[in-house]
Amino acid sequence: MTGRDTLARDLQRARQRTLSLTDFDDAELHRQYSPLMSPLVWDLAHIGQQEELWLLRDGDPHRPGMLPANIEGLYDAFVHTRASRVDLPLLTPAQSRAYCSSVRAAALDVLDTLPERDDDAEVAFRFGLVISHENQHDETMLQALNLRAGAPILGQRTSLPAGRPGVAGTSVLVPGGPFVLGVDAGTEPLSLDNERPAHVVDIPSFRIGRVPVTNGEWRQFVDDGGYTRQQWWSERGWEHLVQAGLSAPQFWNPDGTRTRFGHVEEIPTDEPVQHITFFEAEAYAAWAGARLPTEVEWEKACAWDPAAGTRRRYPWGADEPNPRLANLGGEALRPAPVGAYPAGASAYGAEQMLGDVWEWTTSPLRPWPEFSPMIYQRYSEPFFDGDYRVLRGGSWAVAGDILRPSFRNWDHPIRRQIFSGLRLAWDI
Ligand SMILES: [Fe+2]
Repeated sequence: MTGRDTLARDLQRARQRTLSLTDFDDAELHRQYSPLMSPLVWDLAHIGQQEELWLLRDGDPHRPGMLPANIEGLYDAFVHTRASRVDLPLLTPAQSRAYCSSVRAAALDVLDTLPERDDDAEVAFRFGLVISHENQHDETMLQALNLRAGAPILGQRTSLPAGRPGVAGTSVLVPGGPFVLGVDAGTEPLSLDNERPAHVVDIPSFRIGRVPVTNGEWRQFVDDGGYTRQQWWSERGWEHLVQAGLSAPQFWNPDGTRTRFGHVEEIPTDEPVQHITFFEAEAYAAWAGARLPTEVEWEKACAWDPAAGTRRRYPWGADEPNPRLANLGGEALRPAPVGAYPAGASAYGAEQMLGDVWEWTTSPLRPWPEFSPMIYQRYSEPFFDGDYRVLRGGSWAVAGDILRPSFRNWDHPIRRQIFSGLRLAWDI
C-alpha cells in the first residue's frame, strides 16, 4: 500500500506547483493565450472539481457537491472544448482558490481515515489519480504559459547540470528477447489503467538513441532541406507541413533564436529539440536513416534489466527521481543538455529516458491485452483506436511523483505546443 504520508506529501507538492503557476492577477488568469489552451483560471477550478469528484463524491457526478450543478458543468472537459472555455461564466480566481482549498481540506480528512479502511488500496489509488491529474494540468498550464505573448512572467527556478560532449547521435544496443511490458497494481499501486497489466512480450533486437535528438542535429535537418524536400515525409505529414506552413520547430525564430516563456535566446545546440509534431519527428528519422521506436521498444530500453531478468522501477534503479538523475518537476522551464545525467542511464545505457522531452513513438494508443478501465473510465478508453500517437518518458515539466517507465501519454500527430521531442531507433 502507498503510505498516507507519501500521498499527503505529493498532494501538497502538486498544490504548491498549481498555486505558483496561477499566482498572477485576475486579468492574466482569464486570458486565453491560444485556442489550443484553456485560460489558467479554468484549469485551477477544474483541478478542484476533479479532486472533489474522485475523493469526496465517489466518482458520481450526480451526488451533490460544493458547486451548483450549472457551475460545476463548466469544468467538464468533455463538454466544453479548450477554445470555448474563455467565454464561459467561470468562477473568479479568488472563488476558484477558495473552492480548491475547501475540497483539499475535506480530502485530507478522508486521507486521515485511510489506515482504518477496508478499501484502503482503492482509496489510495484514487488519491494517486488526483495527484496525477493535478500535476498533468500543471504541465498543461506550462504549455499555455509558453504560448503567452509578451514579456516573461515565469522565471527559471533551478539550474541544470552540464551535458557531456560526444553523446549526441550515439546509440545503444537492446538485444532481442522477451521482457515484461506494463505493470500491475502489486508493484505499482498508483499506475493508471492503460499501463496494466504486466505481460510478457518478445521483440527483435534493435538500437536506440543513447539520448534524444538535439537542436544542433535538427538544425542540420533544416539546413539540408528537411522542410522543403518531400522525400522524407509521409503523405499526411507533407500535407500538414504545407497546410500549416511548417519550416522549423515551433518557437524557432527566422533569425536563428527561439522564444521560450517570453525569453528570446540563442538555440542551445546540445539541448534536446522540443515542439515538434509526430510528422516532423518521423521525417527527421527518415532523413537520418533511422526510424522512431515503437512504444514497446522504448519501454524495454527504459525499464528492463536483462541481467536481473526483471523490470527496474526507474531506468536507473529503485531510487526516487532526484535532480542528479533526471530533469523533472517543471522548475527548469527547459530540457537539460544531452549527457547531463549519466547516473540516470538505463540497464542498456540509454540516458534521459525520463524527463527533458516527451518522446514520440510510432505506436497508436491501444489497450494492453486484458485492459480493464479504472474508476475514471474516460481517462484512456475513449482515446483507444483514435488518431493518436503515444509519447513516452515525460518532459522536464512532469512531476517525478507521477512518472514511471510504463507511463503513456498520447496526442494528435499534429500537436507541438507540447514539450515533445524524439529519440531515434534502428533495426539490426
Ligand atoms: Fe482534467
